[in-house]
Amino acid sequence: MFVSLEGPDGVGKTTQAALLAERLRATGLEVVQCREPGGTELGERVRAVLLDPQVSMGDRAEALLFAAARAEITQEVIAPALDRGAWVVCDRFIDSSLVYQGIARGLGVAPIREISLFATGGVLPARTLVMHGVDRRDDEPDRMEAAGADFHARVADGFLELAGLEPDRIRLIDAVGTEDDVAERIWAALEGLRP
Ligand code: TMP
Repeated sequence: MFVSLEGPDGVGKTTQAALLAERLRATGLEVVQCREPGGTELGERVRAVLLDPQVSMGDRAEALLFAAARAEITQEVIAPALDRGAWVVCDRFIDSSLVYQGIARGLGVAPIREISLFATGGVLPARTLVMHGVDRRDDEPDRMEAAGADFHARVADGFLELAGLEPDRIRLIDAVGTEDDVAERIWAALEGLRP
């Protein structure tokens, strides 16, 4: 079973991905936890380039680099895990590209979806949990985080828009409250898929 956590920077996805993976493991399941971009030798190197504030790049190159990292983690990590029946909990996946590159950069959702599905060979999460409503960014901004307030407002709106387009796969999770409150909401949103 493939699940992704999504949302704007600073919404608390990484913490929740770890809590979810732990809770699933406690039921006896094999769980592979990963993050995007990254998770492979190539992906981590591409991530370093993508987030480096010293590297300038055009929007199309950015979109293709995210897709390249996604192709690699899907082939090396995600597809084999799904084939052997494991759960995969991924911190970001295709929807980050649809929102950051498709909507916020203005490249269009349709072409970015096409590139991303080419990259994953059609692999998509069974359910995607989009967290929203808080911004806990506090460290030094990376290249994406430094993109400006307007850009990040388009990202936040973009996730809500996307959730409306695919209500079966994408569930909105209110990220306001304690870690435990949010973890319960995420657990509830996996009803029907989890044990
Ligand atoms: P994070 O893993 O710390 O959230 O950082 C990844 C950054 O890259 C974050 O700002 C979101 C951005 N991103 C995209 O713009 N497109 C993508 O496809 C992915 C996976 C991430």
